[in-house]
Parts: sequence; structure tokens; C-alpha cells
Amino acid sequence: MDMKVVPVREGNYNLKDYEKLRENFSWDDMKKYFSWDTTGKVNMAYEALDRHAEDSEKKNKIALIYSDPYREEKVTFKDLSKASNRFANILKDYGVEKGDRVFLFMPRSPEFYTAFFGILKVAAVAGPLFEAFMEQAVRDRLQDSEAKILITTPELLKRVPQENLPNLEKIVIVGDHIDDSDKYIDYYKEMEEASDEFDIEWVDLEDGMLLHYTSGSTGKPKGVYHVHHAMIQHYATGEWVLDLKEDDTYWCTADPGWVTGTSYGIFAPWLHGVTNVVRGGRFTPEDWYNTLEKYEVSVWYTAPTALRLLVSHGEEKVSNYNLSSLRHIMSVGEPLNPEVVTWGLKAFNLRIHDTWWMTETGAQLIVNLPSLEIRPGSMGKPIPGIEATIIDNEGNELPPNQMGNLAIKEGWPAMMRKIWNNPSKYESYFMNGWYVSGDSAYKDEDGYFWFQGRLDDVINTSGERVGPFEVESKLIEHKAVAEAGVIGKPHPERGEIIKAFITLNEGYEETPELLEDIRTFVKTGLSAHAAPREIEVKDSIPKTRSGKIMRRLLKSWELGLPTGDTSTLEK
Ligand code: WT7
Repeated sequence: MDMKVVPVREGNYNLKDYEKLRENFSWDDMKKYFSWDTTGKVNMAYEALDRHAEDSEKKNKIALIYSDPYREEKVTFKDLSKASNRFANILKDYGVEKGDRVFLFMPRSPEFYTAFFGILKVAAVAGPLFEAFMEQAVRDRLQDSEAKILITTPELLKRVPQENLPNLEKIVIVGDHIDDSDKYIDYYKEMEEASDEFDIEWVDLEDGMLLHYTSGSTGKPKGVYHVHHAMIQHYATGEWVLDLKEDDTYWCTADPGWVTGTSYGIFAPWLHGVTNVVRGGRFTPEDWYNTLEKYEVSVWYTAPTALRLLVSHGEEKVSNYNLSSLRHIMSVGEPLNPEVVTWGLKAFNLRIHDTWWMTETGAQLIVNLPSLEIRPGSMGKPIPGIEATIIDNEGNELPPNQMGNLAIKEGWPAMMRKIWNNPSKYESYFMNGWYVSGDSAYKDEDGYFWFQGRLDDVINTSGERVGPFEVESKLIEHKAVAEAGVIGKPHPERGEIIKAFITLNEGYEETPELLEDIRTFVKTGLSAHAAPREIEVKDSIPKTRSGKIMRRLLKSWELGLPTGDTSTLEK
């Protein structure tokens, strides 16, 4: 692996001394930033929103810039605070109480963020569902969580099951809907009538705030439960990793149906009171570059899958836009290919900072801090307050450079507090005081962590272990390859052989010669045993919305097995 050190563009970041930050660090010391310190009570909605609305210098600042192809809106902290007060009043009127689950099934919009904060203000638990879910996915989640209220749009209502949801009392409709049954609440009508004053429900740090459903390798999606305490880590990483400053305009491209879209699309930026850009609609390179240019985005948090698409559209495209405001880029969700980091340096003259974490961890844990040297292909080092290591299957720590289970010392502010309705599943994450991530990785002598794959994805071919990520990274370095997903295919002699699914860049056609050339490219670039014995060209590679290649699905296709839960598949 290339160990090239990537230089920092001088003056660009707040360069905090990593070792100093780590020394004697205690999460408790960070409580002083929050009302908790003086009152012993807290609420994320207060800290991220009302606090700024009460501040005479901040209240008229733009909190949210929302845009999609049909709509553009700018909302101040004061207006968002008032609007969410109205929504909190509506929920209270309909009997929502502390701890009740209130779900949102709707696209990103100002109404989404208004309702989301309204839910937190009554101390209910918010459950955002990704808009592409089909009926079964919605049903599974509403049933398991026993949600009391659902907020949706007339279009998405078609995918909301109308039966077998005994706990669902009301459905709030954001838009026109002709049905006067008292099951439905008309959002716009009731918002007009509701008061914009609301006494926020103060909670304890350990009170529930958020349920994010996530798919495991088996079984139904599980509800990962987060508490208000997470704010401490969202705030801290907002400073250390996102490097947010007062005047930043920040854009996180993730949907709030996924944890990145809440932790870093809502909490971290607004805890810091920065202007937050939300872009709805579909991805195109033009649209994304436009968004960066038009709103003068300075800090940008996105995903490798999007970055790879930008790469495949060429670096010349970037030069058509004025991106001079952009000063900091981060990535999350899957391995950030070294090739993309190298491309970022050329295309943006900026480093792309990889960050590693999971739905379950609630916030970033292993990152490329602005002050650290970047080793392309490495996720970086644990943030202050986090101890990470590699353990074997018995829970023993392994020395540097040995591959094993990536594990984190139990107990950090943003960690999930339970799996909803499933205590034994929750327990199964822990071993010897470590949270076991399910990722395989190794740590080098300097403490940098290198991701290898999900444990169930690691390929063993002729007794050699091969991480699919390595092969995929190599494949996309080939000029003809746009995206790649690699699986182990059972083979009588070799255990598994490597099979690659690829998409081709524009201007390339599938020929036996081209496929052989790609194979040789990996063989000579990486190693003979890592070269795919089979390559299949596809129109697209299946990915989750958080950008992970669904190797499990590729494998099921390949083996002709049932495909299981594909509710998180990007449509
Ligand atoms: C899994 C968690 C939390 C952000 C969205 C994904 C993979 C995440 C990285 C990274 C390599 C990564 C891991 C992890 N992953 N970030 N920087 N490098 N892999 O959340 O859907 O809960 O998935 O995503 O495999 O376990 P998620």
C-alpha cells in the first residue's frame, strides 16, 4: 500500500496537536459547553437550535439553506426554532409524551427539520426513515418501534401500511390530502393554528432521542437507540474533525434517514451554529458542483461512492466551477480508495479526510484529523477519548500489522444505548469490555488503522486472505473501470476465487481483450492471487444509501440465493 504522506494546504485548518488533545482527556470536561453543566438538564433541540435563536447575534443568521430542483429556501435559527415550537405543540396536543416514538417518512425539506426538532422538544424519540423504502421496510420499522405518530407526504403515504400497526395513532400529512378521517393531521393547517411558544421538555443526558434502523448480515433491520448524551461527541468532533468555525457554510450530502444525515447533517453543524446546506433531489456531478459553488460551501462531508462518480466524470469538470470557498472535505461510509485521495489533491487541491464510524457508534471514532498526516487508504487514528485496537476472536489484543477485529473500549458519549426490543443482540456486540465492530482491520506501528473489510466479506483464496476493498481499489485505478464490487465465489480447489463486478467508464466497451487487460492490471498491480478470475460487466453496482457496495447482494445473485433484506439498497 502506498504510504505517501499528503501535505496540508497551509492555513487551511485549525491545526490542533493530536497528542496534546488526547492527553488527560475526559468527556466529562466537555459537559461545560452545555446547559447540563448549570441546570443538570439538557435537550439536543435546545443546544442545537433554541440556544442560537435566543442569542441576539445569531438569531437572524441562516441556519438552513434548503434547495432542490423546484424549491429554494433559507431559514434563520429563530424561524426554525419558532416553527419547531409549533410542531411540538401539535404533538403535545395529540398526546405525545416523553419516550414515545415519532417517525418521519419523507424527503429532506424544511418541514422535515422543523418536525424533527419538534419531536425532540417534546422529548419523544425520532425515527427518520429513508424515502426510498418500500412498504415492507416501513412496516418492519413501525411495528418494531411501536411508533405512535408518523409524519409523511401524500406521495409516500401510498407506501405506508394501513394494517397491523395497532400503536400508530395518527399520521401527519405534509401536503394536500383529501381524507377527513381523524387518523390524519393536516400539517400546514395545524402549523398555522399552533402557538410558536413552547416550554421545552428538559431531559437527562441518558434519555432517548433517536432510533436508526440498520441492516445486519442476517435477520430484520435492528433499531439502534441513541440518547441526548451524544451531543457531547457531536460537538467535539464538529470542532476537531469537521473543523467548523462561525463563518463556515457546511454541506453534508447524507440523508437524515441514515445516521450520517442526523449526527453530521443536523447535530454537529447546528451545535456549532453554522449555516447548513441541504440539497434534495438526485445526484449529478453538475448539480453537486453547482451546489458547492452557489452556496460557497466551505466544509463538505460526503461519501466515497459519490467521490468515485465525480472521479469518473473527470477532473476537467471541476475547473468549470469556482470552488474557492471549499477548504475542507471529509468522507465516510466505506473505504476511501487511495486513488480518490490522490484525485482530490489534483482536482480540489485539498486532502480528503476519511472518517470511520457506524450507526451503532453514533459519532466518528477513527478519523483523519486535519492536524494528522494522511496515509491514503488508512482511516486515520482514534479521536481523543476513544481507545481502539485490534482483537482476535477470543478478545485478546493483537500486535501491530496483524489483521483482526476492529474493537473500541466500551463507553463513549454517542454510543448506542440499546438495540430496540433486542437486548441479546445488544449484548452480542461486546467482548471483554470491547465493542466489536464486525470490521476487520489492522493497526500499523504508528497507530494508523487500515480497514480490510466487513468480517464476513474477507475472501480466502488458496489460503491467502484478500480484502475485497484492496481489489476494488485496484480495479478502479484502471482507466476503463468506474466502479467495482468484489466477492469471494466458492470454488472446490481454491476455497474461494475472486469475482469482480464492474461498471465501465464512458467510451469503453466490453471485449474479451479489455477484461483480460483489467485482470492483468490487478495481477501486476496488486498480486496474482488478488486478480479476479471472473469479471462481469454490469450497468450499476448495488449500493446502500450510505454508499457501501452490497457484496452480500452480489454474492446472492452469483449463487442464485434469495437476496434477503434489500430495503437499504440505493434505488
Ligand atoms: C460500516 C458502518 C456511519 C457512517 C455511515 C455508515 C463501513 C464506515 C468507513 C470508512 C471503511 C467504513 C464499515 C462500518 N465504514 N466508514 N471510513 N472506511 N469502512 O454507517 O451503515 O452503520 O455502516 O460502514 O464497514 O462497519 P453504517
